[in-house]
Amino acid sequence: MRTPICRAIGIDYPVLQAGMGMVAQARLAAAVSEAGGLGVIGTGLSMMPDELREQIRAVRSATRKPFGVDILFATVRAEGSSVLTYTENVSRLIDVTLEERVAVLVSGLGSPEAAVPDAHDRGIYVMSVIGAERHARKAVAAGVDAVIASGRDGGGHVGSVGTAALVPAVVTAVDVPVVAAGGLADGRGLAAALMWGAQGVWLGTRFIATKEAAAHATYKARIALSDTSATTVTKAHSGKPCRLIRNSFTNFWSEREDQIQPYPRQALEVGNPASVRGRLEGDDEWGVLPAGQSVGLVGSVPPAGKVVHQTVREARAAIAAGSHC
Ligand SMILES: Cc1cc2nc3c(=O)[nH]c(=O)nc-3n(C[C@H](O)[C@H](O)[C@H](O)COP(=O)(O)O)c2cc1C
Repeated sequence: MRTPICRAIGIDYPVLQAGMGMVAQARLAAAVSEAGGLGVIGTGLSMMPDELREQIRAVRSATRKPFGVDILFATVRAEGSSVLTYTENVSRLIDVTLEERVAVLVSGLGSPEAAVPDAHDRGIYVMSVIGAERHARKAVAAGVDAVIASGRDGGGHVGSVGTAALVPAVVTAVDVPVVAAGGLADGRGLAAALMWGAQGVWLGTRFIATKEAAAHATYKARIALSDTSATTVTKAHSGKPCRLIRNSFTNFWSEREDQIQPYPRQALEVGNPASVRGRLEGDDEWGVLPAGQSVGLVGSVPPAGKVVHQTVREARAAIAAGSHC
């Protein structure tokens, strides 16, 4: 099960934990990496550079294994100019990740192009989350080492193509390793991803419902107990399409779509406070609870290391069962 991307990053299993704002912090990243997968700190829309440095050091004090940092490489138009640049905070998060020589840098949104040369100089492996073949080709032209093809089934920001069509199409479109994401939560998903030609999986929702995730117990329980139809795609969180658990927050905004502001204003004024309420304070009606259609496959809140090992065990069994056909 050790695919070429595992060797490139230095991990034992092709199970990568998605960088998720607020919930994927040092404790979760360390647990996943220590178990042989790739743990990733998610900086999301609210982490400050000093906090990121502390998080990186906290992972290092818990494990010697490689781990990653996921940054939303969103750009803004500088005042009076047509040039798009990273926001001040994004630039400083990139600087911290480069200075600390974290093993893997992931761009969760936008292009990491400007950071790729520096990252490679420091031996950092760069991956980009993409939702369409053309974005995958653009990321490869920008110099990334691998792409994460995340389908519309997934939690958080989504494109328009479902995982089962997107992943093989991206494998055909680019000549770098592809990791599959979106709606995958167990070893059957990992086995399918390998059959599609991907070299591993990037699991978000599954890892929220673990002991080490920094999510409120109510959010974890909603994920563990929901079925696959419990989510909806809305721009209400950030101004961009995002898959959330359907609740009073998403219902309220579905009647006020014309009042949703463009990214990132909607996130700063509405989504971020609602995310704190939902993800950290346990308000599962008026809070933002991102989750994929994978919610229907979760069912429990185990330690994250157990998820890594179980996913690999199940994938081996699924591949063996499939090969009898
Ligand atoms: C709570 C939550 C927060 C997320 N935040 C980010 C983020 O900050 N950066 C990013 O690249 N992706 C983010 N995502 C998307 C994940 O990286 C991943 O693509 C998605 O979770 C995969 O689908 P799954 O949830 O069905 O596993 C987030 C997803 C969730 C559920």
